[in-house]
Amino acid sequence: MITGLHHYALQVPDLEVADSFLNDFGLETADKDGTLVASCAGRDQEQVRLIRADEKRLHHVTFTVARGRTDALRERLERAGTVVLPEPPAGTTGEGLWVLDPDGTPVQLIEQDPVLARPVAGVPMNIGAEHRRVGRRLWTEVTQDTMPRRLGHSLLFTAQPEAMEAFYTTVLDLHVSDRIKGLVTFLNAGPGDHHVFGFIRSTHRGFHHASFEVPSIDAIALGADRMRSRGRDEGWGLGRHTVGSNFFHYNRDPWGSWIEWFSDIDQIDDSWVAQDFEVPPHLWGAPPPPEFLQNHESSAPVIRP
Ligand SMILES: [Fe+2]
Repeated sequence: MITGLHHYALQVPDLEVADSFLNDFGLETADKDGTLVASCAGRDQEQVRLIRADEKRLHHVTFTVARGRTDALRERLERAGTVVLPEPPAGTTGEGLWVLDPDGTPVQLIEQDPVLARPVAGVPMNIGAEHRRVGRRLWTEVTQDTMPRRLGHSLLFTAQPEAMEAFYTTVLDLHVSDRIKGLVTFLNAGPGDHHVFGFIRSTHRGFHHASFEVPSIDAIALGADRMRSRGRDEGWGLGRHTVGSNFFHYNRDPWGSWIEWFSDIDQIDDSWVAQDFEVPPHLWGAPPPPEFLQNHESSAPVIRP
Protein backbone atom coordinates (compact mmCIF):
# COMPACT_ATOMS: atom_id res chain seq x y z
CA MET A 1 0.00 0.00 0.00
CA ILE A 2 2.82 2.40 0.87
CA THR A 3 4.70 3.23 -2.33
CA GLY A 4 7.44 5.44 -0.93
CA LEU A 5 8.75 8.07 1.45
CA HIS A 6 7.41 11.49 0.41
CA HIS A 7 9.00 13.88 2.93
CA TYR A 8 10.01 14.30 6.56
CA ALA A 9 9.43 17.24 8.84
CA LEU A 10 11.42 18.63 11.75
CA GLN A 11 10.51 21.38 14.13
CA VAL A 12 13.51 23.64 14.73
CA PRO A 13 14.13 26.85 16.65
CA ASP A 14 15.49 28.94 13.77
CA LEU A 15 14.33 28.66 10.16
CA GLU A 16 17.14 30.91 8.88
CA VAL A 17 19.74 28.50 10.27
CA ALA A 18 17.84 25.65 8.62
CA ASP A 19 17.61 27.53 5.32
CA SER A 20 21.36 28.18 5.16
CA PHE A 21 22.24 24.60 6.08
CA LEU A 22 19.90 22.99 3.54
CA ASN A 23 21.10 25.37 0.79
CA ASP A 24 24.71 24.44 1.50
CA PHE A 25 23.71 20.76 1.41
CA GLY A 26 22.30 21.30 -2.09
CA LEU A 27 18.54 21.65 -1.69
CA GLU A 28 16.30 24.47 -2.93
CA THR A 29 14.23 26.12 -0.22
CA ALA A 30 11.06 28.16 -0.16
CA ASP A 31 8.64 29.64 2.32
CA LYS A 32 5.28 27.83 2.41
CA ASP A 33 2.51 28.88 4.77
CA GLY A 34 5.03 30.12 7.33
CA THR A 35 7.11 26.93 7.18
CA LEU A 36 10.32 26.27 5.25
CA VAL A 37 10.16 23.58 2.58
CA ALA A 38 13.11 22.09 0.71
CA SER A 39 13.20 20.16 -2.55
CA CYS A 40 15.66 18.82 -5.09
CA ALA A 41 16.26 21.15 -8.06
CA GLY A 42 14.37 19.88 -11.10
CA ARG A 43 11.96 17.73 -9.10
CA ASP A 44 8.49 18.89 -8.17
CA GLN A 45 8.18 17.28 -4.77
CA GLU A 46 8.57 18.68 -1.28
CA GLN A 47 11.18 16.58 0.53
CA VAL A 48 11.73 18.40 3.82
CA ARG A 49 9.50 20.64 5.88
CA LEU A 50 10.83 22.74 8.76
CA ILE A 51 8.42 24.15 11.30
CA ARG A 52 9.46 26.80 13.81
CA ALA A 53 9.26 25.72 17.48
CA ASP A 54 11.27 26.15 20.68
CA GLU A 55 13.22 22.89 20.45
CA LYS A 56 14.29 20.64 17.60
CA ARG A 57 12.15 17.49 17.27
CA LEU A 58 11.06 15.09 14.60
CA HIS A 59 7.63 16.48 13.66
CA HIS A 60 6.22 13.93 11.19
CA VAL A 61 6.97 11.62 8.29
CA THR A 62 4.87 11.36 5.12
CA PHE A 63 4.47 8.35 2.84
CA THR A 64 2.72 7.99 -0.50
CA VAL A 65 -0.11 5.45 -0.83
CA ALA A 66 -1.04 3.66 -4.07
CA ARG A 67 -3.96 5.21 -5.98
CA GLY A 68 -7.33 3.92 -4.82
CA ARG A 69 -5.97 2.21 -1.70
CA THR A 70 -6.73 4.79 0.98
CA ASP A 71 -10.09 3.23 1.96
CA ALA A 72 -8.52 -0.22 2.33
CA LEU A 73 -5.71 1.33 4.34
CA ARG A 74 -8.20 3.12 6.60
CA GLU A 75 -9.94 -0.23 7.30
CA ARG A 76 -6.62 -1.86 8.07
CA LEU A 77 -5.70 0.98 10.45
CA GLU A 78 -9.04 0.66 12.24
CA ARG A 79 -8.67 -3.12 12.59
CA ALA A 80 -5.21 -2.61 14.10
CA GLY A 81 -6.52 -0.02 16.57
CA THR A 82 -4.18 2.66 15.19
CA VAL A 83 -4.79 6.19 16.44
CA VAL A 84 -6.13 8.25 13.52
CA LEU A 85 -5.82 11.97 14.25
CA PRO A 86 -9.08 13.91 13.86
CA GLU A 87 -7.18 16.86 12.40
CA PRO A 88 -3.65 17.40 11.06
CA PRO A 89 -0.96 18.65 13.49
CA ALA A 90 -0.32 22.41 13.53
CA GLY A 91 1.99 23.57 10.75
CA THR A 92 0.93 20.89 8.27
CA THR A 93 -1.48 20.56 5.39
CA GLY A 94 -4.71 18.65 5.82
CA GLU A 95 -4.11 16.22 3.01
CA GLY A 96 -4.50 12.45 3.50
CA LEU A 97 -4.74 10.35 6.65
CA TRP A 98 -2.83 11.28 9.80
CA VAL A 99 -2.01 8.46 12.25
CA LEU A 100 0.33 7.99 15.21
CA ASP A 101 2.98 5.29 15.13
CA PRO A 102 3.80 3.35 18.35
CA ASP A 103 6.31 6.04 19.37
CA GLY A 104 3.66 8.76 19.02
CA THR A 105 5.19 10.22 15.85
CA PRO A 106 2.58 11.61 13.44
CA VAL A 107 2.59 9.75 10.11
CA GLN A 108 0.86 11.28 7.08
CA LEU A 109 -0.42 8.98 4.35
CA ILE A 110 -1.22 10.65 1.05
CA GLU A 111 -2.65 9.09 -2.11
CA GLN A 112 -0.25 10.27 -4.78
CA ASP A 113 1.82 8.84 -7.62
CA PRO A 114 5.54 8.83 -6.84
CA VAL A 115 7.39 11.60 -8.67
CA LEU A 116 10.35 10.47 -10.77
CA ALA A 117 13.81 11.42 -9.55
CA ARG A 118 15.48 14.29 -11.39
CA PRO A 119 16.97 12.76 -14.55
CA VAL A 120 20.76 12.50 -14.61
CA ALA A 121 23.34 11.45 -17.17
CA GLY A 122 24.92 7.99 -17.00
CA VAL A 123 28.33 7.64 -15.34
CA PRO A 124 30.29 5.13 -17.45
CA MET A 125 32.96 3.39 -15.35
CA ASN A 126 36.11 1.45 -16.16
CA ILE A 127 35.76 -0.88 -13.18
CA GLY A 128 35.86 -4.66 -12.84
CA ALA A 129 35.60 -6.61 -16.07
CA GLU A 130 34.03 -3.77 -18.04
CA HIS A 131 35.57 -0.70 -19.62
CA ARG A 132 32.61 1.45 -20.57
CA ARG A 133 34.42 4.78 -20.94
CA VAL A 134 36.77 5.25 -23.84
CA GLY A 135 37.97 8.56 -25.26
CA ARG A 136 36.36 10.66 -22.50
CA ARG A 137 37.75 12.63 -19.53
CA LEU A 138 35.57 11.55 -16.63
CA TRP A 139 36.94 14.16 -14.24
CA THR A 140 35.59 16.96 -16.41
CA GLU A 141 32.14 15.32 -16.56
CA VAL A 142 31.42 14.34 -12.95
CA THR A 143 31.63 17.93 -11.78
CA GLN A 144 28.72 18.92 -14.06
CA ASP A 145 25.94 17.56 -11.84
CA THR A 146 26.52 16.97 -8.14
CA MET A 147 23.22 18.01 -6.56
CA PRO A 148 20.62 15.76 -4.87
CA ARG A 149 18.04 14.19 -7.21
CA ARG A 150 15.59 12.75 -4.65
CA LEU A 151 15.07 11.91 -1.00
CA GLY A 152 15.93 8.23 -0.61
CA HIS A 153 15.34 7.27 3.00
CA SER A 154 15.13 8.34 6.60
CA LEU A 155 16.03 6.46 9.78
CA LEU A 156 14.46 7.19 13.17
CA PHE A 157 15.58 6.44 16.68
CA THR A 158 13.29 4.23 18.74
CA ALA A 159 13.36 2.40 22.06
CA GLN A 160 10.91 -0.22 20.74
CA PRO A 161 12.13 -1.44 17.34
CA GLU A 162 10.00 -4.60 17.50
CA ALA A 163 6.75 -2.64 17.98
CA MET A 164 7.76 -0.12 15.33
CA GLU A 165 8.66 -2.90 12.88
CA ALA A 166 5.31 -4.61 13.51
CA PHE A 167 3.40 -1.37 12.88
CA TYR A 168 5.24 -0.31 9.74
CA THR A 169 5.17 -3.80 8.21
CA THR A 170 1.86 -5.32 9.34
CA VAL A 171 -0.26 -2.18 9.29
CA LEU A 172 1.42 0.06 6.71
CA ASP A 173 2.81 -2.81 4.56
CA LEU A 174 6.45 -1.84 4.35
CA HIS A 175 8.82 -4.84 4.34
CA VAL A 176 11.97 -5.70 6.28
CA SER A 177 15.02 -5.53 3.98
CA ASP A 178 17.72 -6.57 6.49
CA ARG A 179 18.73 -5.88 10.06
CA ILE A 180 21.98 -5.12 11.86
CA LYS A 181 21.21 -7.32 14.82
CA GLY A 182 20.10 -5.39 17.89
CA LEU A 183 20.85 -2.00 16.31
CA VAL A 184 19.26 -1.16 12.95
CA THR A 185 16.16 -2.31 11.05
CA PHE A 186 15.94 -1.40 7.35
CA LEU A 187 12.55 -1.32 5.58
CA ASN A 188 11.62 -1.19 1.89
CA ALA A 189 8.49 -0.24 -0.03
CA GLY A 190 8.78 -3.02 -2.63
CA PRO A 191 11.03 -3.17 -5.69
CA GLY A 192 13.59 -0.37 -5.74
CA ASP A 193 15.96 0.95 -3.09
CA HIS A 194 17.13 -1.52 -0.43
CA HIS A 195 15.64 0.79 2.22
CA VAL A 196 13.38 3.82 2.29
CA PHE A 197 12.85 3.88 6.05
CA GLY A 198 14.10 2.25 9.23
CA PHE A 199 14.94 2.43 12.90
CA ILE A 200 18.01 2.65 15.10
CA ARG A 201 17.73 1.41 18.67
CA SER A 202 18.00 4.20 21.22
CA THR A 203 16.71 5.19 24.64
CA HIS A 204 13.76 7.04 23.06
CA ARG A 205 12.19 8.28 19.85
CA GLY A 206 13.93 10.82 17.62
CA PHE A 207 15.18 11.67 14.13
CA HIS A 208 18.54 10.16 13.17
CA HIS A 209 19.09 11.06 9.52
CA ALA A 210 17.66 11.54 6.06
CA SER A 211 19.51 10.64 2.89
CA PHE A 212 19.47 12.07 -0.63
CA GLU A 213 20.67 10.38 -3.80
CA VAL A 214 23.30 12.23 -5.83
CA PRO A 215 24.45 11.27 -9.34
CA SER A 216 27.81 9.67 -8.48
CA ILE A 217 30.34 8.79 -5.78
CA ASP A 218 32.25 11.89 -6.93
CA ALA A 219 29.18 14.01 -6.25
CA ILE A 220 29.23 12.75 -2.66
CA ALA A 221 32.88 13.70 -2.17
CA LEU A 222 32.46 17.03 -4.00
CA GLY A 223 29.45 17.80 -1.78
CA ALA A 224 31.53 17.05 1.33
CA ASP A 225 34.22 19.41 0.00
CA ARG A 226 31.56 22.10 -0.54
CA MET A 227 30.32 21.72 3.05
CA ARG A 228 33.88 21.89 4.42
CA SER A 229 34.57 25.03 2.37
CA ARG A 230 31.58 26.62 4.13
CA GLY A 231 32.81 25.71 7.60
CA ARG A 232 30.62 22.63 7.96
CA ASP A 233 33.29 20.12 8.93
CA GLU A 234 31.42 17.77 11.22
CA GLY A 235 30.60 14.63 9.32
CA TRP A 236 31.24 10.98 8.59
CA GLY A 237 32.53 9.62 5.29
CA LEU A 238 33.42 8.97 2.59
CA GLY A 239 32.67 5.28 3.00
CA ARG A 240 30.62 2.40 1.67
CA HIS A 241 27.93 0.96 3.93
CA THR A 242 27.63 -2.72 4.66
CA VAL A 243 23.85 -3.24 4.66
CA GLY A 244 22.46 -1.40 1.59
CA SER A 245 25.97 -1.15 0.06
CA ASN A 246 25.63 2.55 -0.72
CA PHE A 247 28.51 5.00 -0.80
CA PHE A 248 27.86 7.65 1.85
CA HIS A 249 28.90 10.90 3.43
CA TYR A 250 27.00 12.39 6.36
CA ASN A 251 27.07 15.95 7.67
CA ARG A 252 25.94 16.82 11.14
CA ASP A 253 22.99 19.20 10.97
CA PRO A 254 22.70 22.31 13.19
CA TRP A 255 20.62 20.33 15.72
CA GLY A 256 22.90 17.32 16.30
CA SER A 257 21.21 14.91 13.88
CA TRP A 258 22.50 13.98 10.42
CA ILE A 259 21.93 14.38 6.68
CA GLU A 260 23.47 12.06 4.08
CA TRP A 261 24.26 11.90 0.38
CA PHE A 262 24.23 8.41 -1.11
CA SER A 263 24.98 6.71 -4.41
CA ASP A 264 24.99 3.08 -5.65
CA ILE A 265 22.48 1.66 -3.15
CA ASP A 266 21.43 -2.00 -3.60
CA GLN A 267 18.24 -2.43 -5.61
CA ILE A 268 15.83 -5.19 -4.59
CA ASP A 269 12.89 -7.00 -6.15
CA ASP A 270 10.02 -9.12 -4.80
CA SER A 271 12.30 -12.15 -4.37
CA TRP A 272 14.53 -10.37 -1.81
CA VAL A 273 14.94 -12.28 1.47
CA ALA A 274 15.77 -10.28 4.62
CA GLN A 275 18.72 -11.33 6.75
CA ASP A 276 20.17 -10.39 10.13
CA PHE A 277 23.83 -9.34 10.15
CA GLU A 278 26.29 -8.67 12.93
CA VAL A 279 28.50 -6.12 11.19
CA PRO A 280 29.56 -2.50 11.63
CA PRO A 281 27.58 -0.05 9.44
CA HIS A 282 30.56 0.67 7.18
CA LEU A 283 32.39 -1.74 4.89
CA TRP A 284 35.40 0.61 4.65
CA GLY A 285 36.36 4.13 5.60
CA ALA A 286 36.81 5.71 9.00
CA PRO A 287 34.49 4.45 11.76
CA PRO A 288 31.56 6.69 12.71
CA PRO A 289 32.33 9.50 15.18
CA PRO A 290 31.25 8.79 18.78
CA GLU A 291 28.38 11.27 18.54
CA PHE A 292 26.86 9.48 15.52
CA LEU A 293 24.31 7.61 17.62
CA GLN A 294 23.55 10.36 20.13
CA ASN A 295 19.86 11.17 20.40
CA HIS A 296 19.41 14.77 21.51
CA GLU A 297 15.63 14.95 21.23
CA SER A 298 13.20 15.13 24.09
CA SER A 299 11.60 11.74 24.81
CA ALA A 300 8.07 13.16 25.09
CA PRO A 301 5.72 12.36 22.16
CA VAL A 302 4.94 15.19 19.75
CA ILE A 303 1.23 14.63 20.21
CA ARG A 304 -0.44 12.85 23.10
CA PRO A 305 -3.24 10.64 21.84
FE1 LIG B 1 21.29 6.37 5.32
